[in-house]
Amino acid sequence: MCGIVGYVGHQSAVSMLLNSLKKLEYRGYDSSGIGIVDANKRKIAFRKDQGKISNLEKMLNARPLPESHLGISHTRWATHGAPNKKNAHPHFDTSKKIFIVHNGIIENYESLKKDLIKKGHKFISDTDTEVIVHLISDFYNGDIFHATQKAVKKLRGAFALGVICEDSPEQLIAARIGSPLIIGVGDHENFIASDVPAILESTNKIIYLKDGQMATLTSDRVDVFDFDGKPVKAKVDEVTFSVDAVQKQGFDHFMLKEIHEQPAVLEQMLKARLKGSKVSLEGLHLTDQQLKDVEHVFIVACGTAYHAGLVGKYIIEKLARTPVSIDVSSEFRYRDPIIDKKTLVVAISQSGETADTLAAVREAKNKGAKVVSICNVVGSSLVRESDGVLYTHAGPEIGVASTKAYTAQVMMLFFMAIKFSQIKNEKGSALTKDLMAAMKELPALYTSILKSKRGIAQVARKNSHFGCFLFLGRNINFPSALEGALKLKEISYIPAEGYAAGEMKHGPIALIDEYRAVVCVVPQSDIYEKMISNIQEIKARKGKIIAIATEGDQQIKPHANHVVYVPRTHELLTPLVVALPLQLIAYYISVQQGCDVDQPRNLAKSVTVE
Ligand code: G6P
Repeated sequence: MCGIVGYVGHQSAVSMLLNSLKKLEYRGYDSSGIGIVDANKRKIAFRKDQGKISNLEKMLNARPLPESHLGISHTRWATHGAPNKKNAHPHFDTSKKIFIVHNGIIENYESLKKDLIKKGHKFISDTDTEVIVHLISDFYNGDIFHATQKAVKKLRGAFALGVICEDSPEQLIAARIGSPLIIGVGDHENFIASDVPAILESTNKIIYLKDGQMATLTSDRVDVFDFDGKPVKAKVDEVTFSVDAVQKQGFDHFMLKEIHEQPAVLEQMLKARLKGSKVSLEGLHLTDQQLKDVEHVFIVACGTAYHAGLVGKYIIEKLARTPVSIDVSSEFRYRDPIIDKKTLVVAISQSGETADTLAAVREAKNKGAKVVSICNVVGSSLVRESDGVLYTHAGPEIGVASTKAYTAQVMMLFFMAIKFSQIKNEKGSALTKDLMAAMKELPALYTSILKSKRGIAQVARKNSHFGCFLFLGRNINFPSALEGALKLKEISYIPAEGYAAGEMKHGPIALIDEYRAVVCVVPQSDIYEKMISNIQEIKARKGKIIAIATEGDQQIKPHANHVVYVPRTHELLTPLVVALPLQLIAYYISVQQGCDVDQPRNLAKSVTVE
């Protein structure tokens, strides 16, 4: 949610910033801008425009910025103020000496703004961000670091900031609370960015700035401080993923690439976590006794991660017989949930930066629960706030619609459920043994589904004209139905609803006629016959049925208009195999509709505001 990049170094700031900013476009794409200090005149200059970064690029080609070695840039996901040029970052003070870019929300901006206006500061945008730069300028008496330090102490809310000032043409300033910000340490050049992919082409040496920390960067130095100006020793980490991981590598879209990465992701997870007949939950930081003492698991997550959590509820309860509650994080944080020391809170998040999930974790910790997270992004805020972390290591996910992160989260929940089960029943039940054996087959099953993607694409194309979709599933595949519907609506804007098939007759059946398509997730299982009954109810009302069924199932054919087959697996693992065709159906419908698959309107990959 909003992307920031800052650069100071020996190369051209504008081309470095533009190139890096493009890698963060998944975080927001309402408007973008670049501000630099002119290397010769020592004056600030900027360009900004509404819409995607390509608009800014065109503008820069038509009206290039002067040579510069220091600058900041921003791609926006609008919160306060419409997504237009006026509200685009960078924002500047009345004297246009100081420029800032900001990610986050300033909660006390209205009162600050009133005071600043009284003091003569002239505001031109509708954003909360603009108060920050005026506040810095209010404290400014020749030392931009100290002015920024004083200003950040007055701010309430969340922020990651990049600040430049024309009086300090060699210095970039950064600060953070609540919103992600990293520092890239290069060779005679240094960077700030919202996320690692932005700067990976230049450096893999990263400092993860912590909440309440600031930094000053010149081309040859990085110094980190707390908000009181006390120097802090910062650790430089080396990230291991390659530049390839953040490129499309010949695929039309990141989403398609990430769908194809799933067999490899599952393969590496199996290698890392399955140790003979045992499961390794390295990173969890809980002893077997502590796990044994857990009386209640509470899962919190948002969006796709919430759907993974729902699958987790079914499997943990089934395997470990431990009760599991689950909330979307935004509800959990405000409803005074019942949790105590015997509760294990599991926070699931691809990015590890989702504001509501972070708030839910803080709430859980205040109530005395242990918190473990399932997360994809190393060093993210969620990881730092959790007592333990299970990294999915699915690699960077760039497509806004989550695919490989989802299946990796579900897989991790299987590992967790098996571990719980083994701890409670030391000999290990036959069920966990069967599951572990079946899990090893998953990467090959995924590869075979991907080989049949042409057929899935055809089904998607034939049904892309429907103006409304219903996704139905039962039991452990009820979350699959929710996730299938979410994928489709996110990237094609077609109204799509996911429902528990048994609940359909209590409302959604009213929607069914020959103009609706109904995707039925109906793999072989104990409740197969129940699903068939529900499918007949839809057929009787002329709904068009796309069934996702198990290979070899002939019984389904007369009931469905189209059947997409998935290979047979253990019944409990079916959410993992049906996920793939559901992702592909959404993908191909989106492509057919001419939508922007990787950057759907109004959405952002990392939601760092409430
Ligand atoms: C956004 C993304 C979704 C994601 C959700 C939660 O809405 O568009 O794809 O599922 O945030 O994100 P997280 O990073 O916490 O998994």
